[in-house]
Amino acid sequence: MAEKSKNNQLMEKIISLCKRRGFVFPGSEIYGGLANSWDFGPYGAELKNNIKQHWWKTFVQNREDMVGLDSAIIMNPKVWGMSGHLSNFSDPLIECKKCHTRFKADSVGFFNPEDKIGKLDGVSCPECGKSDWSPALQFNLMFKTNVGPTEEKSSEVYLRPETAQGIFVNFKNISDTSRKKMPFGVAQIGKSFRNEITPGNFIFRTREFEQMEIEYFFNPEKDKWEDKFKMWENAFKKWMDEIGVNSKKLFFHDIEKEELAHYSKKTIDVEFDFPFGKKELFGLAYRTDFDLKNHKLDYKDPETQKPFVPHVIEPSLGVERMALAILLSAYTEEKINNEVRVVMKFKNNLAPIKIAVFPLLRNKPELVKKAREIYDVLKTKWMCEFDDNGNVGKRYRRQDEIGTPYCVTVDFETLEDDAVTVRDRDTMKQERIKISELKFFLKNKLEE
Ligand code: GAP
Repeated sequence: MAEKSKNNQLMEKIISLCKRRGFVFPGSEIYGGLANSWDFGPYGAELKNNIKQHWWKTFVQNREDMVGLDSAIIMNPKVWGMSGHLSNFSDPLIECKKCHTRFKADSVGFFNPEDKIGKLDGVSCPECGKSDWSPALQFNLMFKTNVGPTEEKSSEVYLRPETAQGIFVNFKNISDTSRKKMPFGVAQIGKSFRNEITPGNFIFRTREFEQMEIEYFFNPEKDKWEDKFKMWENAFKKWMDEIGVNSKKLFFHDIEKEELAHYSKKTIDVEFDFPFGKKELFGLAYRTDFDLKNHKLDYKDPETQKPFVPHVIEPSLGVERMALAILLSAYTEEKINNEVRVVMKFKNNLAPIKIAVFPLLRNKPELVKKAREIYDVLKTKWMCEFDDNGNVGKRYRRQDEIGTPYCVTVDFETLEDDAVTVRDRDTMKQERIKISELKFFLKNKLEE
């Protein structure tokens, strides 16, 4: 019980810090909000961009066997027929007959797709406590809309529920133009939409979110799927370490055969121990040749000229879910002189602001001028902030909560010795550094 309330408190602290410091705001807040929609503020946008950029650099730029793609969100609806999403991408929905709240059936306790109402007898409604359920209905999670001015059946389209299909339908275009030889992969980052029955837990499950997906194609006659699967599992373990996901909170959960998605032969859910329980952070799936076969696409081996349908390994991540795991991994409270210091200990590569520059006093023009000169130089290379509000102690507190690794202060001595004080976020140690050496010093620190 104590553990549960500690976890609730941690979640509340994270949500409150995100709002107070400008990471994440409730969506449409001035109009009363829209349930479970969130907007990323200035620091949240930086954090998300840093995650995406690091992912792209690691898995596209740094690898010879990968290329990128940016495909359309609205696609020909035939795509979703062929991919199986129209018939299979649904959740079992039940309604409490007493309070009329709707739930994803497995979220209220247990659900076996074969079961109907009988098996839910005795399971209480989490809202009103009664146990009187409607039969389960399959509810398709895709958002439907219309293209053009008329709302006819023929103009119906869907917002994509995964970015993956954009990769599959472009497979031929990419293999014809990129000159990549098998095995090779295609990466894409973009918005996906799902009309989730039970969104929630802050930015963990929302109806609109960003995915970072890779489809890695190989010839099953030349490569063993187990080897490629392992390669991606290891690559992502390393990547999560580099971006500061707490490895002690990670669990690799092999999905049971009966629970696999309609396209998968093997899936590992990489789970993170969130304050609301161990939940899927991202998935790694062996999608076989399911998608390319359904889209009637194949590949000709350049040596044998024999056509075959490539198989696929898919690492699929949600950006916001990754951001939440990183916020939770970075959140630290330290007791200092009977006060609690809250510090976001982001890895340098993910910190929204890398350096904050302060003049000691805002009403001393010679200090402000010098600090601005330094800021103007540093900001061309790193995301920096100039701050002359309040006293230096308060500025440090704010930068600690934003997770800024270094603060540079211009004081009266600077005017004498052309040096500044550089304060390290984690150790709180302060060093005097010559302005002429500052950029080199920070480069070494930030990029070490
Ligand atoms: N292409 C495969 C696919 O989309 P998925 O397990 O349904 O697989 C992959 O989704 C990842 O996308 C999840 O592990 C999660 O990180 C993220 N994701 C899925 N639904 C989400 C939602 N409603 N809100 C936020 N992130 C979501």
